[in-house]
Amino acid sequence: MNFVEQYGAWALVTGASSGIGEEFARQLAQKGLNLVLVARRGERLQKLSGELNGKHGVETRVAVADLSAADFMSQIDPVIKDISIGLLVNSAGIMYINNYLDMSAADELRLIDINVKAPAILSRRLAPEMVNRGRGGIIFVASILGYMGTPYSAAYAATKAYEIAVAEGLNFELKPRGVDVMVLCPGPTKTEMLNGMDMEKMPMKPMEPAPVVAGALADLGKKVRHIPGSVNKMMVWMNKRLMSRDMATTMMGRTMKASVRT
Ligand SMILES: NC(=O)c1ccc[n+]([C@@H]2O[C@H](COP(=O)([O-])OP(=O)(O)OC[C@H]3O[C@@H](n4cnc5c(N)ncnc54)[C@H](OP(=O)(O)O)[C@@H]3O)[C@@H](O)[C@H]2O)c1
Repeated sequence: MNFVEQYGAWALVTGASSGIGEEFARQLAQKGLNLVLVARRGERLQKLSGELNGKHGVETRVAVADLSAADFMSQIDPVIKDISIGLLVNSAGIMYINNYLDMSAADELRLIDINVKAPAILSRRLAPEMVNRGRGGIIFVASILGYMGTPYSAAYAATKAYEIAVAEGLNFELKPRGVDVMVLCPGPTKTEMLNGMDMEKMPMKPMEPAPVVAGALADLGKKVRHIPGSVNKMMVWMNKRLMSRDMATTMMGRTMKASVRT
């Protein structure tokens, strides 16, 4: 079966205005799926919408929404009220690499709203319809940092641990009912998220978004987790098999400290 037969005609991608989300939108359009593009920067979404429509002949809709707002579904519901979303890609996310004490409570709650609350609300809104139709897919974009306590990015890593755990649990529940759930766990990836970070001080070279997304889409329905790139895979394997959780956190702490601006 191709993607449209497997999941349905429409995908909704959050964070489609840049980086990994934008790449998901491009590759899904190439596979013939119509797209609902969600983010705050509407002009970018409109431009992408026109481009995908012209290049692949797919239908596109734009939902400008701030996923940190309590009522963000009020911006999305009217856009999707007459269509069935078969594939949900929860890619929008924000990250902080900082001393814990330099981050405010408001910053941390915003992180939780965008990285945890928004995917939770969207998945809960769309999964029941997928189950009723007996087909669908949900992709959470987490991070390899979700596999360990991560100093200087502790709250971010915790949001990604939520996405890993929720995807694993949901896939067990929903796969027998026709819905594939997957978590994509990238390592450093060349997107705007890394802007301003001194990657020279990081031991890992960032990947391009295209292979990160292509690998995830190739594994959707076959695996519950996708870790792109051999270095990222090796790192997660070492952390899980060769180190205690404390050792993994200490190693990450030393690595992350190098990129914190003092
Ligand atoms: N890049 C990496 O190294 C890396 C590594 C591991 C995991 N990840 C994960 O990959 C996902 C995508 O990140 P990326 O690398 O593609 O970063 P990015 O280029 O900065 O993209 C982030 C996307 O999230 C959207 N977003 C941010 N705040 C939002 C809000 N309040 N409401 C709605 N949309 C919002 C942004 O759109 P607007 O600004 O237009 O709203 C943008 O489209 C994230 O979940 C991130 O944690 C990234």
